[in-house]
Amino acid sequence: MMQQLQDTAAYIQSQTDNFEPEFGIILGTGLGALVNEIEIKYSLSYSDIPDFPVSTVESHSGRLILGLLAGRNVIVMQGRFHYYEGYTMEQVVFPVRVMKLLGVKKLFVSNAAGGLNPAFNTSDLMVLTDHINLQPGNPLIGKNLDEMGPRFPDMSDVYDEHMIRQAMVIAEDADFDLREGVYVSVPGPMLETKAEYKYLTIIGADAVGMSTVPEVIAARHMNMPVFAVSVITDMCTPDRIKKVKLSDILEAAAIAEPRMTMLIRELIKLQ
Ligand code: HPA
Repeated sequence: MMQQLQDTAAYIQSQTDNFEPEFGIILGTGLGALVNEIEIKYSLSYSDIPDFPVSTVESHSGRLILGLLAGRNVIVMQGRFHYYEGYTMEQVVFPVRVMKLLGVKKLFVSNAAGGLNPAFNTSDLMVLTDHINLQPGNPLIGKNLDEMGPRFPDMSDVYDEHMIRQAMVIAEDADFDLREGVYVSVPGPMLETKAEYKYLTIIGADAVGMSTVPEVIAARHMNMPVFAVSVITDMCTPDRIKKVKLSDILEAAAIAEPRMTMLIRELIKLQ
């Protein structure tokens, strides 16, 4: 595994004149427009990168972009890998580990999620303050990659408190309500039943989605500070639940996209 990671990192370096990214960004649903703000230096299709998984979800395009955001060197995953697509957890987190080998110091993640907290509304942004992993397994199972991190990594401060506070100030200055809460990750791909939404609320989650937690676990294993934000694309409380279509989710995410883009750009400026 380490050899594969190193080979992939070396390939990327060979294709990008040894560009050194400082920050890694995983663009989930609702953050695609961030790419328009990047001064793109290099763009690699996942299918051209040795050992990189290839994204199968149509709404994600599958490119690794290296360039400048707010004057800082970034590497951006345009399209991520989900467990429900059939990838192993090791494949899901492969790019995050490669990012570390390329020199990335901090990770920024976005996703789309269903709202469980009744105070939330569709198209709200929620900063993750903590998570609950309900996906089957996790990327650290198996022989530990000692070069990457310890066997039993601490998860008590999984999301970087300092960046959370910075994000709250950015939102306040821009005059929008940035929510904070606990994200629970489920395997998907089906959305939840009413009973499951109730259960997820009872165990302490504010939002539910099908991504992010594996990548965050891998990043924290490598002691990389993480900032993550969800766009609430549908409300899942008993009084507001309705049948959701992918188009509704994308529409709700599109409304939040300018705020999400601004938040990540301004946050990166402050690092
Ligand atoms: N459940 C799980 N994942 C989601 C949801 C949801 O309601 N909405 C967007 N992603």
